Amino acid sequence: MSNGYVSPTIDFSRRAHLSEWMDEPCSYEDFRDCLKDLDRINRIIFGYSPTLTWLEQYADADAPLHIVDVGCGGGDMLRRIDAWAQSRNLPVHLAGIDINPHAARAAREFSSRSSRIEWITGDAFSYDPPVPIDLVISSLFTHHLTDSEIVRFLQWMDRVTTRGWFISDLHRKPIPYYLFSALATLMRPHRFIRHDGLISIRRSFDRDDWENYCAIAGLDQNGVNIYTMRPARLCVAREKP
Ligand SMILES: C[S@@+](CC[C@H](N)C(=O)[O-])C[C@H]1O[C@@H](n2cnc3c(N)ncnc32)[C@H](O)[C@@H]1O
Repeated sequence: MSNGYVSPTIDFSRRAHLSEWMDEPCSYEDFRDCLKDLDRINRIIFGYSPTLTWLEQYADADAPLHIVDVGCGGGDMLRRIDAWAQSRNLPVHLAGIDINPHAARAAREFSSRSSRIEWITGDAFSYDPPVPIDLVISSLFTHHLTDSEIVRFLQWMDRVTTRGWFISDLHRKPIPYYLFSALATLMRPHRFIRHDGLISIRRSFDRDDWENYCAIAGLDQNGVNIYTMRPARLCVAREKP
């Protein structure tokens, strides 16, 4: 297993090829507790707000808005979107897909019994939606992919969505890295989070990476917005005309 703890020689100039403990076989309890602490960290570093802010432009939809969250983990983002939609009387069909079967189990455990969010276990690439998807979102997901998988993911999202897609992931630079390191020291989260958090930042992206992926995917650069959301996110957004 890789060791992602702070070193004075961290190279932020390129994506690190390191693995995360949460992607390796583990017990359900470890995976669930890791997701719980990921939610704690997400709340502290405003991890949900880039997606919720981006979704505001779709708040006037009159037909049910079909939103799929890829790499949904424990489903905290979709529960927030559900609450956001209910507060606006907005009809939605929400689905979360995650490759790890522990994720759907944890998402059901974390959700109320009345929740209508659909939890699917599967690889994002083999998901064949039964009905057209309006929006695909993902948060802290794309850094789990190789460069060529990211290009495929961009092409897949652009093909299956009718209205647009949004990626919220980490910005590969020193400030998020040392901020997370300090936060992990203070919060003492699950050991997966302490290890994977630093590695996630090293596996994540800068603007040039996303420009290259979009170009290779054949996307019109003018139709894609790449922007930072402080303190740690780099977002990629596409709204279809
Ligand atoms: C860091 S977690 C992010 C969870 C959640 N989106 C969040 O923001 O807290 C990344 C998730 O992506 C999932 N994942 C990794 N590769 C995947 C793939 N090819 N298809 C679907 N899910 C995948 C992992 O199982 C994990 O639950």
